[in-house]
Amino acid sequence: MSKKQHTALAIIGAGPGGYPAAFRAADLGMEVTLIDPEANPGGVCLYRGCIPSKALLHAAELLSEADNAKDMGISFSKPEIDISKLAKWKEGVVKKLTGGLGQLAKARKVKYIRGRASFADSGMLRIESKDSEDFFLTFDNCIISTGSRPASIPGIDIDNKIILNSKGALELEDIPNSLLVIGGGYIGLEMGTVYSALGSKVTVAEMLDCLVQGVDRDLVSVLEKKLKKEFKSIMLNTKVKSINKEKKGVKVVFDSKNGEEEKKFDKVIVAVGRRPNSDNLGLENTNVKVDDKGFIEVDEKRRTTEGNIYAIGDVACEPMLAHKATHEGRIASEVISGKNSVYEPAAIPAVIFTDPEIAWCGLTEKEAEAKGIDIKVSKFNWSASGRAMTLNRTDGVTKMIMDSNNGRILGVGIAGIGAGEMISEAVLAIEMAANYYDAAMTIHPHPTLSETFMEAAEMFEGSSTHVFRRKRNKNS
Ligand code: NAI
Repeated sequence: MSKKQHTALAIIGAGPGGYPAAFRAADLGMEVTLIDPEANPGGVCLYRGCIPSKALLHAAELLSEADNAKDMGISFSKPEIDISKLAKWKEGVVKKLTGGLGQLAKARKVKYIRGRASFADSGMLRIESKDSEDFFLTFDNCIISTGSRPASIPGIDIDNKIILNSKGALELEDIPNSLLVIGGGYIGLEMGTVYSALGSKVTVAEMLDCLVQGVDRDLVSVLEKKLKKEFKSIMLNTKVKSINKEKKGVKVVFDSKNGEEEKKFDKVIVAVGRRPNSDNLGLENTNVKVDDKGFIEVDEKRRTTEGNIYAIGDVACEPMLAHKATHEGRIASEVISGKNSVYEPAAIPAVIFTDPEIAWCGLTEKEAEAKGIDIKVSKFNWSASGRAMTLNRTDGVTKMIMDSNNGRILGVGIAGIGAGEMISEAVLAIEMAANYYDAAMTIHPHPTLSETFMEAAEMFEGSSTHVFRRKRNKNS
């Protein structure tokens, strides 16, 4: 391998961190090379993550909406599900999006190399190309955006036929009659929602004493209430001891407070977290430091401990969210172009796309308490929202966490349908350092669920238009 090429900016990984970084750099006039094994940019998010899962979750929502219509006097007959057509439709969405990104890369004159890159030293990559001979690529600057991969459980062999990770689960080969989901986090609950709507009897086994740890309990309980009705079972404080494949399906031994228990399932989804892809990159040939969890150490400019190498997205730090990677990618490219940009978000939104959704940003109530911040929490229950009633979905709550001294909004949490779309207003409010009065005095369209944000803000003073609380005494 003697061939050598040079680029001003090499970007490893074309996911939601890498491709926006490449596009921003090209827009700022830089010469960019983007390297990824897939035919087009998109990464896990587009090929095997956010986009295919959200396409399937939309199908799940349709099925549950149709069922929900019974209360309004509208009954549909049992839906017929053509699983291969559904899988094809989802693949079509992925193809259109990734193809579009390929076109956008070409239009910007970003050089796209289909292959794998690893560091030969701190100024040169070894490229294993899918389209040509392997070669060396020297660079002035490099951004590592290699993402993450599903974590596994020792002793459990993922074959993506019977025992699936998120990739296998999204392929949607068939609808198992009984499905075990190991892990009650983002992926476990989203995939459980999809398969349950498609007809599987879903059991969730979570080793902790709660679902989606880290999210405020009053938000999670809105979702948990519905999932308890829809899923066959939610087993908390439960670990999987062993899984044995049988002629049909698997036999699983669980270990919980009640001792050992054995159950049979047709399929299993393992969703126990993700690990950063910082290994197999040749980082030992550079001065880039990696922490004990595998995250690459970066500063607020996303620069690593090697001056000309940057890292963004899941490989750099938590939270492992596509939109955070996109933001970091744009920052890193701006810094490389000479701008004085820094990564300092006041709030990062997170959304679990279940039904109902859970979305939050800024400080959670738990975090505020742990930090000893004097907060006031106000909640607006969707049972008092006219719009929620017209949608027959009053199972929701909008919650605001404010500095009790000045009413500044520190965090917002929403559980309910469409929460993921609503949270952006809260992110903007926190970024703009808004207080409760700003939100309460912002006219929201009626009738919409977004009014619940305004009314949660009004509740800082004790009451809102649709919630009356009698004051304890004249002066309170
Ligand atoms: P997660 O960290 O959200 O949840 C994993 C769960 O598995 C945890 O509750 C953990 O306690 C549990 N667990 C771990 N080992 C276990 C075991 N042996 N037995 C039973 N339970 C066990 O991880 P998940 O769901 O795999 O998702 C990975 C990451 O991907 C998320 O943290 C998120 O950053 C990202 N993601 C984001 C999505 C979104 O934005 N909507 C959707 C999907 C993933």
